[in-house]
Amino acid sequence: MTSLFRSAFRSSWPKTATPAAFSPCRASFQGCFDALQQHRYSSSSAAATRTAIVTGSANGIGRAIAVRLARDGFDVCVNDLPSNAEQLESVVSEIQSIGRSAIAAYGDVATYTDVASMVSASVDALGPLSVMVANAGIARARPILEISDPELKRMWDVNIGGVFHCDQAAAKQFIAQGSGGRIINAGSGASYRADPMIAHYCATKAAVRSLTQSFAIALGPHNITVNAYGPGIVDTNMWDVIDEGMAGMEGGLPRGQNFHKHPISLGRTSVPDDPAKLVSWLASPEAEYVSGQTILIDGGLVFS
Ligand SMILES: NC(=O)c1ccc[n+]([C@@H]2O[C@H](COP(=O)([O-])OP(=O)(O)OC[C@H]3O[C@@H](n4cnc5c(N)ncnc54)[C@H](O)[C@@H]3O)[C@@H](O)[C@H]2O)c1
Repeated sequence: MTSLFRSAFRSSWPKTATPAAFSPCRASFQGCFDALQQHRYSSSSAAATRTAIVTGSANGIGRAIAVRLARDGFDVCVNDLPSNAEQLESVVSEIQSIGRSAIAAYGDVATYTDVASMVSASVDALGPLSVMVANAGIARARPILEISDPELKRMWDVNIGGVFHCDQAAAKQFIAQGSGGRIINAGSGASYRADPMIAHYCATKAAVRSLTQSFAIALGPHNITVNAYGPGIVDTNMWDVIDEGMAGMEGGLPRGQNFHKHPISLGRTSVPDDPAKLVSWLASPEAEYVSGQTILIDGGLVFS
């Protein structure tokens, strides 16, 4: 391991936290308290502990990433909208069953104060931040001439604003820690290829690619890498929403068939564990010299 990487993941455990630090979370207090005790009194694990935040992790790709990072040895702060409390609490339980600490921080990534509170809650409960995964996103298929202003604005606010807020808040935390760090954003095949059936979504993912480059340039001197993962067609709720929308549009196929019309070289659509494996690598020591990249993981669908 190089000194660069050691620096990036230097930890200053144990950090004192009080029960008040859990106030933004709705994870069971006992679960959080147990997690805290584990860190306070286990100095050997404390020295090695890395922590990650994963937004939009109640479902789909975010959930797979959160669980994968826990299996990799991270303590994880999971995030989603309050309306998904039941699913998010089950992710917390799954991570705890793996033997890692987890908390839930509810909030809307489109609101900077929610994101800043999430970072504070994570640091207070789990310790210094090592990795931010800005995963939360929304999508909808809609004819380009029928996209309304409110719909456009919400897509911008969540998919671009959310990534911007997460990157900015994480960067401020990493710089304050003096630790370096990893920022990993949710891009897409749509970061490289437009589609008039999901035009506003594609535009946001192209923006994520651009933001990933700008943040990488700005944060490199602080030993912070910034990259994005670009899934193709992943079997999640999001794809169901897209499929349903496309089925009702001119040029769309019946429900269920839009999923299979794309020429994927490897001959299968994706599962959430596929992008989770890439994120695992981007968060690992092996990826220490990778920054500013939007890496496609789509089975050979879009060629950038
Ligand atoms: N599914 C795909 O085929 C695919 C392909 C390429 C990229 N992606 C990207 O991967 C990411 C995850 O997609 P997914 O398929 O798992 O979607 P999903 O809809 O299954 O899950 C997204 C999660 O994000 C949460 N979320 C939405 N808005 C939020 C907000 N404002 N604040 C906090 N949480 C919010 C949702 O509640 C949900 O739990 C997205 O950024 C998406 O654009 C998905």
